[in-house]
Amino acid sequence: VLLTGVTGFLGSLVAAKLLREDTVDLVCPVRGAPARGDVIAPIEAELAIAGRPMSASERARITLVALPPLDEIDRLEDAAAGLDARLAWPPAEIIHCAGCLDYFDAEALEKGNVELTQQLVAQARRWGVRRFVFLSTAFSGGYSDQIIPESIHEQAIARRDPTDYTRSKRQAEWIVAGSGVPFLIIRPSIVIGSSQDGHYSGKRYGLYQLWMGMERLIFDQWRPVFQAVGPRVATHFVHQDVFQEMFIAAWRHLPPGSVFHAVSAEGPTLMALWSLWLDACLRPGRIEYFQQVADLPVHQMDRRQRSLMALASVNLEIATSSWRFETTNLARLERMGYDFTRTALSSIAVCQQAFIDESATIRAFIEENRSRFVDTPEVIEMEMVGQAGRAREAEVLLRRAL
Ligand SMILES: NC(=O)c1ccc[n+]([C@@H]2O[C@H](COP(=O)([O-])OP(=O)(O)OC[C@H]3O[C@@H](n4cnc5c(N)ncnc54)[C@H](OP(=O)(O)O)[C@@H]3O)[C@@H](O)[C@H]2O)c1
Repeated sequence: VLLTGVTGFLGSLVAAKLLREDTVDLVCPVRGAPARGDVIAPIEAELAIAGRPMSASERARITLVALPPLDEIDRLEDAAAGLDARLAWPPAEIIHCAGCLDYFDAEALEKGNVELTQQLVAQARRWGVRRFVFLSTAFSGGYSDQIIPESIHEQAIARRDPTDYTRSKRQAEWIVAGSGVPFLIIRPSIVIGSSQDGHYSGKRYGLYQLWMGMERLIFDQWRPVFQAVGPRVATHFVHQDVFQEMFIAAWRHLPPGSVFHAVSAEGPTLMALWSLWLDACLRPGRIEYFQQVADLPVHQMDRRQRSLMALASVNLEIATSSWRFETTNLARLERMGYDFTRTALSSIAVCQQAFIDESATIRAFIEENRSRFVDTPEVIEMEMVGQAGRAREAEVLLRRAL
């Protein structure tokens, strides 16, 4: 199998799972000639956490090759020359986990998602691989008030995208699906730490962007009031160990042409996630929840809380929208006996605790401010105000104790 993106979060999780639970050899194109030890270390760490250190035979099943520049992808062919003689070539399958998640860099998104996929698909065709597995995203269809189907998004429908990222992933899906190569498209929602011990090996995306933003901004002093965008809308996270299970199940069992939503059933609401966090490490006297980013009373807000909301605004905007995903394939795999742990407030709490335990800043803050912590803060949900700029006279919908 040719596996791209092995230096990244999901690519290394996929590599670890395939090494442990299958016998397949992995040939992994990497850019910039990283040291083999640096690439293997995260995979090794995952395998050790999964119960047993990486064995010599598992290690021997990973081969790194240079990823040629985009317009010379066919030079992947040259990789054959340096390969161990026991490895069959060309690869029977491509698993494409490389991708760009930089919401604001349209050029990098075009290169990393659209062009790279285009080139790899062309190579897959030249090699006549039996399948092209593509890691997309559950959000690739853009905003929708319908249940998002496990099928290729229709091209004729005008769509509104949260960012260029979702648009670029949708275009990449179209390239894969239109290539004539048998395919499997896996669409994970947002991947967070392990449901078992909370460890997280990814970058500062999604929930971690928010937690790290808070760690940086709001632990300078205890605040009596906390204001956040926190509607009662379900969030969509999948734990990294559960993603691995979902990947291997889909890889083994779903027929060619499948699109698979690697998601958990409706998760806790955004409001519940804030409560979990505030309860663990801030405990203000009053919490004000707003329904959407545009409703925040930015001019009256504490400067650091405002910076936090600005930092996370794109993800908060996405999270305040109600996303619903078809889960037919998930149910199909579960009927085969797979048991995918659902993402619940209690399992997110495990990840949150792991994050707090690793943060000297937050631990010191809790220690110093514990005496100020309020046991039952006043919780206020503001009604939806509407577009930014409208007079901000949010009615208090509900006052209650936590
Ligand atoms: N993380 C999530 O929660 C999540 C959820 C749903 C879908 N996904 C999808 O999963 C894929 C991987 O995400 P991730 O979280 O693993 O991201 P990541 O940790 O940032 O890893 C990205 C990987 O892609 C490679 N890459 C990026 N741009 C490239 C380019 N132009 N040419 C060649 N390689 C390139 C990176 O290589 P370098 O090391 O050389 O930079 C790295 O191996 C993405 O396609 C993303 O859309 C992720």
